[in-house]
Amino acid sequence: QAELPDGLHMRPLASSDYHRGHLSVLSVLTLVVDPGEQAYRAQFAALRGTPLTYYTLVIVDKATDRIVGVGTVFMERKFLRALGTVGHIEDIAVDKSQQGKKLGLRIIQALTTISERHGAYKTILNCSDANVPFYEKCGYVKKENEMAKYA
Ligand code: ACO
Repeated sequence: QAELPDGLHMRPLASSDYHRGHLSVLSVLTLVVDPGEQAYRAQFAALRGTPLTYYTLVIVDKATDRIVGVGTVFMERKFLRALGTVGHIEDIAVDKSQQGKKLGLRIIQALTTISERHGAYKTILNCSDANVPFYEKCGYVKKENEMAKYA
């Protein structure tokens, strides 16, 4: 896998990332409501309490100590396919000021590697039509349809 640009590094999400702009980066993707630090940390602890399941990676700008990219893969364990595992990629976001510098690509590559090292027989995600070319550049192919029912 290729390197990140100088001055940026990738690491797992930390509970202190509440203070590094994690939620504001996510807001390029969709509506984000700040739950407050205590509830943020409780959610972090709850996800950590389900080991080998949730992996969130962040890209941090070392100079500013701010998060500029984020993405998650969660591992779904099945009864079919000989107790197989599927990786679900979720919530990919790159800060507007850093888009187009291959950060999204690096996040997808890293999450896919995590998924495959878990033995996932496939890694999947949902996206808008506008993002199809991005995911194709990441090596993903269009397959079937998404169905949704909003509460
Ligand atoms: N249309 C066509 N090509 C694209 C697009 C697009 N919308 N977005 C990226 N690409 C191409 C790039 O040009 C690049 O091509 P190249 O290798 O030929 O130069 C390649 O895909 C890799 O692009 P990156 O630079 O890695 O993309 P970026 O870092 O900007 O991240 C992302 C892409 C994550 C979609 C970012 O633009 C973003 O955060 N958008 C807003 C939030 C969003 O839509 N997130 C994805 C939701 S889907 C989900 O979370 C599962």
